[in-house]
Amino acid sequence: MESYTQQMNFFGNTNPDELLKKYGSPLYVYNEDILRRQMKRVAGILTSHRFTSNFSIKTNSNLTILRMALEEGLNADAMSPGEIFALKKAGFPSERIFFVPNNVSEEEMQYAIDEGVILSVDSLSQLEMFGRLCPGGRLSVRLNPGVGAGHHEKVVTAGKKTKFGVAAQDIPKVLELAKKYDLHIVGLNQHIGSLFMDFQPYLDAVSNFLHYAEDFPELEFVDFGGGFGTPYHKLEGEAEFDMESFKVAFDHLLTEWKNKTGRDVLFKMEPGRYIVAEGGVLLGRVYAVKENFGHRYVGTDIGMNVLIRPELYDSWHDVEIYRDGKPLISSEKEVYSVVGNICESGDIVAKDRELPIVKENDVAVVLDAGAYGFSMSSNYNNRLRPAEVLIDHDGNDRLIRRRDTFEDLMRNFDV
Ligand SMILES: Cc1ncc(COP(=O)(O)O)c(C=O)c1O
Repeated sequence: MESYTQQMNFFGNTNPDELLKKYGSPLYVYNEDILRRQMKRVAGILTSHRFTSNFSIKTNSNLTILRMALEEGLNADAMSPGEIFALKKAGFPSERIFFVPNNVSEEEMQYAIDEGVILSVDSLSQLEMFGRLCPGGRLSVRLNPGVGAGHHEKVVTAGKKTKFGVAAQDIPKVLELAKKYDLHIVGLNQHIGSLFMDFQPYLDAVSNFLHYAEDFPELEFVDFGGGFGTPYHKLEGEAEFDMESFKVAFDHLLTEWKNKTGRDVLFKMEPGRYIVAEGGVLLGRVYAVKENFGHRYVGTDIGMNVLIRPELYDSWHDVEIYRDGKPLISSEKEVYSVVGNICESGDIVAKDRELPIVKENDVAVVLDAGAYGFSMSSNYNNRLRPAEVLIDHDGNDRLIRRRDTFEDLMRNFDV
């Protein structure tokens, strides 16, 4: 029997043990074939309408991965000037970037305007700010339709209890302000939340959103946001998001709307996790195994500074154990919590998991860590953020971001 990472030939010509010896532990490892497969899937969601798929850089900001997205024909969306800066470094031209910020300063908004990047405003205050900075300008408005969806309340990004978007009932005020500053509202965007496997709520949100679009005569694009799910419970047989059925239903809905309204706009989406989550894993070395008061712990260097999703959202990541370069596949199992090296009792990457009997020096392989993994990592406890490595199409490994150094920790001090 093969493990999941073996079936995917995730590590190409090498293995987790060799990778940690070569690049240090912990380590993010990406598989180019899986990343490109997902990029191609989202690029081709709609073929019979004008369509672009944006890559949300906040999920993964590695320059090599951004360049791959560019090569695969994706555009990108940015949440901050720093993300615009990185996208430009990766080679994205301004017209392929969409800035979707919230609560930005005048300087930050001006940065996007100066860079020639179109932006969306997410409140009446920010619409007024844009009007002052760029009278007569073109922009998009992020609407909050009043309904949201997502795997955890912290990732529901529309609905009555979130900070995002202009409430749909304020559309008349939006139109008034646009008139005051002679603004052209050429885009409407929304993002209802993250990680859905059932696409019906997304489609409902799309049809609802298209009704609002009818109030905006100058629209050139409508952006429906991202949120497509990743099967994080794949070792238990969780199925993939059914992209093929989604495509058919989505296409049908948009065709109906176009036929009904006679409008022809560019349709956009902003998937992030769906593109990069499965293409990345996080490796960490096991340094201790212990039993405390009846609970077994696998002590690793995968601290919450390296992967914070389990602590932030109670997220689940499947874990495989490798020993001497090979996956441990054994029917003899124990229940363990896989924990990190950070001084917090909540520093648990995987709680109460049935794993083969684990020993010191094994390698824990945390699956589906390519999205919101490295990009959310920090130097908490003055830990060094890990390196990132790519396994290319030929199975060869290559460093694509170096590990932090102690000097990096001192970079902003006069020492
Ligand atoms: C505005 C916007 N676009 C896109 C995304 C990407 O979402 P996901 O990674 O779930 O596809 C997010 C995530 O929160 C978002 O807020």
